[in-house]
This record gives sequence, structure tokens and C-alpha cells, in this order.
Amino acid sequence: AFHIVVPAALGYLLGSIPFGLLLTRAAGLGDIRKVGSGNIGATNVLRTGRKGLAAATLLLDALKGFGAVLICGVFGPIAAAAAALGAVIGHMFPVWLSFKGGKGVATTLGVMWGLGWPVGAITCAAWLVLAALFRYSSLAALVSVAVGAIASWFLLETPLAVAITVLVPLVWIRHHENIDRLLKGVEPKIGASKTRTD
Ligand code: G3P
Repeated sequence: AFHIVVPAALGYLLGSIPFGLLLTRAAGLGDIRKVGSGNIGATNVLRTGRKGLAAATLLLDALKGFGAVLICGVFGPIAAAAAALGAVIGHMFPVWLSFKGGKGVATTLGVMWGLGWPVGAITCAAWLVLAALFRYSSLAALVSVAVGAIASWFLLETPLAVAITVLVPLVWIRHHENIDRLLKGVEPKIGASKTRTD
């Protein structure tokens, strides 16, 4: 149990650091939760027009998941899987923000790279292709995490594939507003205006 609880807790603590919120606040942009979709992730930081801050948010939100998995991975695959779940749940439900966090895409990519880099690479490639084709960050995320989960069953040990597969419905649930907007045809495309979408 120790090898599950401690990695999950460490993952949660790292995952709960809201880099998008902290970086935009430090840059004097106010509260990112009052911009665009209201999300704290890189896609919404991009709506401030600050590409560097968006890239930094993507990288740091991914790195916290990657780091949690690498650190805990020394205790074996179960610990790595627990850290991965903890990190994404920490990002989505951070105690510091009254459990109202992000949608978990960057952190999921990070834990995928940590659990098995080919799965991370496949998922990133799928995201890039889908984003280039359709120009919806959310749609690219929804489909690519599922692609990554399928790939994980071919490429990784079972506990790691289980963890990645559990992340898919979590990411989807956190995108319920995006899914509504996609179905209604009103989801803003990447590079669209900065107006609120909810
Ligand atoms: O990573 C989150 C992305 O899939 C959607 O973000 O701000 O458009 O809701 P947003």
C-alpha cells in the first residue's frame, strides 16, 4: 500500500501546481480563469496572445507529470502508475484552487512520456495531426488520448496501460463543455478570438 499511497500523494502534489495560473499572474495578465474558456491550461493561455507563456505552461504542466512518474518509477510499475494517476488528478482537482483545476491534457502527455516514451510520442503526433487538420485543441486532445491508451495496451506493461486507460474518461469528463460546443459547432478554433466561450 505504501508503494501506491506515497507515489499517488507525490504525484498529486506535483500535479496540483497550476502553472498556467501562476505564469499568467506573474506576467501581470490577471486571472486566466476570467479569459476565454476559463481553463488554466496552455490552450487558454494562448488566448491571451502570449505564445511563450502558453508554451511554458504546456511544458511545465507536462513536466510535472513526467517528473512524478520518473521519480516514483524507481519503486516499480505500480508506483509509476499511481504517480501518473495522482499527477493528472492533482492537475484536474487541485486542493489549492478549491478542486477546480484544468482538463489534464498536458499532464496526461507528460505522464505518458514517463510511463513509456513511444506512447507519449504517438499521442503527441496524433494531437499534432488532428490539430493541424481540424484546428480544435479540445478535439485533438479527446481523440489523441484515446489513441495513446490503445497504443499503451500494445506497448506497455498492464499496470501502465490500465493507468493510461483510466485517464481517458477523466480527460473526456473534464472536456464536457468543449464536447457540448463541438457538437453545437461553436468551439473556438486554435488562433481564434479571445472572447469568452462559456
Ligand atoms: O487542453 C485543454 C484543451 O483541450 C481545451 O482547452 O481552453 O479550449 O477549453 P480550452
